Amino acid sequence: MPRTLTEPKLLVASHNKGKVREIAALVEPFGKAVVSAGELELAEPVEPGMTFIEISEVKALAGAKAAGLPALADDSGLSIHALDGEPGVYSARWGGPKKDFTRAMGKVHEALEEWGIPDTERQAHFTCALSLAWPDGHCETFEGKVYGQITWPARGDKGFGYDPIFIADGYDITFGEMEPADKHAISHRARAFAQLVEACLQ
Ligand code: IMP
Repeated sequence: MPRTLTEPKLLVASHNKGKVREIAALVEPFGKAVVSAGELELAEPVEPGMTFIEISEVKALAGAKAAGLPALADDSGLSIHALDGEPGVYSARWGGPKKDFTRAMGKVHEALEEWGIPDTERQAHFTCALSLAWPDGHCETFEGKVYGQITWPARGDKGFGYDPIFIADGYDITFGEMEPADKHAISHRARAFAQLVEACLQ
């Protein structure tokens, strides 16, 4: 049985303001108040581990312990099947220190060309692992995925990160061209959130 979140306040274990906003919007309708890692001046944990799940659990557990509050953290990224899952857990790092995703998308395109991957074999998926941890070390984790194809050139300016080169299965426009509400209805993050709500926030 998953543990229900009964506490009225929780930490969002992230220094990324966009993520804090997104997660706060999810839990506030359930009467939960949110404080961020930045507000509590918590250190950013290094990202050890090899999988999205391991990394989100480390972030949530470190946050819960440091804040003495239940803590939510996520880890996400793009895995390209023909590139053995790259950039995967290194998705943010492919943008370099300036988080330049035009450059990261260019690197994806170059790698696919270098490896000689034809357009018909450019399947990929986004993953989001979402962990809710308590200060006593208990942790619940959920994973959402959305499958699709890499396209080139990049199209659309509505999203972020790798959105302009990703077309979800069943669509013919990129995530970068989709209205945010439409993307949020099918995204990896929405799918992980939905499982968390079902298990821990009812
Ligand atoms: P992290 O979860 O903070 O390690 O960063 C994940 C990285 O994966 C982001 O910086 C983006 O580059 C990429 N990413 C994750 N989710 C999405 C998405 O929904 N669209 C586009 N890129 C994403």
